[in-house]
Amino acid sequence: MTFETERLILRPWCDADAEALYHYACDPQVGPIAGWPPHTSAENSLEIIRTVLSKPETYAIVLKTTNEPIGSIGLMRNGDGIYPIGETELELGFWVGVPHWGHGYAPEASHRLIQYAFEQLNVTCIWCGYYDGNLKSKRAQEKIGFTYHHTLENVEVPLVNDIRTAHMNILTRKDWEEKQ
Ligand SMILES: CC(C)(COP(=O)(O)OP(=O)(O)OC[C@H]1O[C@@H](n2cnc3c(N)ncnc32)[C@H](O)[C@@H]1OP(=O)(O)O)[C@@H](O)C(=O)NCCC(=O)NCCS
Repeated sequence: MTFETERLILRPWCDADAEALYHYACDPQVGPIAGWPPHTSAENSLEIIRTVLSKPETYAIVLKTTNEPIGSIGLMRNGDGIYPIGETELELGFWVGVPHWGHGYAPEASHRLIQYAFEQLNVTCIWCGYYDGNLKSKRAQEKIGFTYHHTLENVEVPLVNDIRTAHMNILTRKDWEEKQ
């Protein structure tokens, strides 16, 4: 599946993206705050493309102007996200490379995937979480339309060997329909 927005293409990751992925995902400002370690080499990025970013409903965020992948976005089923969720629910996750922060790309990509989730995947609600202190993600989630639901203490973040507090936001089908 591929999606198009005003400025972006959302399309599956492929092996040829490894260098571009490494370029952005090696930055320690990106992964650790979201719960994963910086990539260590283009080979490491290739392995991540094959093992993690190949999961269903996971897309490279590609800038139309350059055709370059600058981030990633995905809709996760129960078991793949921060938090156990129901069978008719999904969790949204995203990141954008540092040089591209502040242009609203994460919200733009999210709006399109959320539309897809409600219109075609028949979900009842979408969750989106952030770890305590990640104010950029908190703000991006507010802009997308998520509202605060609850806080989880002592969440294990195994990829970075940490225990954190996670704040969970929700967007229900009803809330989304009212905003259309
Ligand atoms: C969270 C993230 C995806 C937002 O992506 P984005 O495309 O920059 O989103 P926006 O442009 O809407 O910016 C969201 C907020 O980030 C903050 N922000 C934007 N650019 C920034 C910059 N260069 N430096 C610091 N903060 C910045 C602003 O508060 C902004 O809100 P505003 O538009 O009201 O000013 C991005 O910051 C990121 O990848 N962070 C690291 C990984 C991460 O936290 N992922 C989410 C896991 S829960």
